[in-house]
Amino acid sequence: MVIDKVVTEYKQKGFTVIKGLIDPQDVSKFVEIAKRYDSGMSNENISYFSSAVRFFDPRVYKHIYKPITPKLYQDSYFLISQTYRPKFKSLIDTLGFQGFRSISRIDSYVSYKSDKNIVGWHCDQAFGGATHPAEFFGGTSGIMSLNNVNKLFIHVKYQNGCFSYLPYSHKINIAIRKLINEGIVAYKPILLLQDAVNLVKGEYYNELLNVCSKESLENFIDSGEEALRSDKDFVLECKAGDAILFNDLGFHKGTAPQKSERIVFRYFY
Ligand SMILES: [Fe+2]
Repeated sequence: MVIDKVVTEYKQKGFTVIKGLIDPQDVSKFVEIAKRYDSGMSNENISYFSSAVRFFDPRVYKHIYKPITPKLYQDSYFLISQTYRPKFKSLIDTLGFQGFRSISRIDSYVSYKSDKNIVGWHCDQAFGGATHPAEFFGGTSGIMSLNNVNKLFIHVKYQNGCFSYLPYSHKINIAIRKLINEGIVAYKPILLLQDAVNLVKGEYYNELLNVCSKESLENFIDSGEEALRSDKDFVLECKAGDAILFNDLGFHKGTAPQKSERIVFRYFY
């Protein structure tokens, strides 16, 4: 793994694939853990403790719906200890994520083999259509955050491309959010890629030109429309042990796991 290349790609495109982040001998342990808590419901999130300190954090408990057993602590310890492995640690250090101290969550889910997409093109933590921004943000000012959450998806059982990401789209989303905060762009839904493409193509194109290059806007419109027609060019191929790190303000999609079930562990930074 060439760390510098991975970091540069992540910063420019909003995502990167890290081959072989998890050592082969540890992959089966990850699978064993995911299976231990799997309820048989496709895509159900199973949360783990993300650090020993989190044991005292009540916010963690609202994510943990299963009995808290010594095994769960043991499994959580294994998942946390992975972040100290040299490859994992150098990645997180180079990106400046501050190791386990900045992990807010670790979870896993199993997607069963299926022809159905897991979720359509969207960005995370976006505005979906609330009519009163202040209410939507819990009585705060209604300012949209410009800070992303870095999500690391570790694939431990997997045969085909399943996660798709629209390169560079995080920058366009951030630009839209800035203009919404300044009152220049009206507060409209941008949760779905189609909505964001319509917004960029439409009445706010000229305003966006003040904060983005014409080239980047055109690229977003073209690649966004292409992605909505077909995921083909955007699917990221991974094998067991590979990981995808992405900025969650960029648009992404859970394409159908057609060849095998898919088991993913997510580390949120
Ligand atoms: Fe998402």
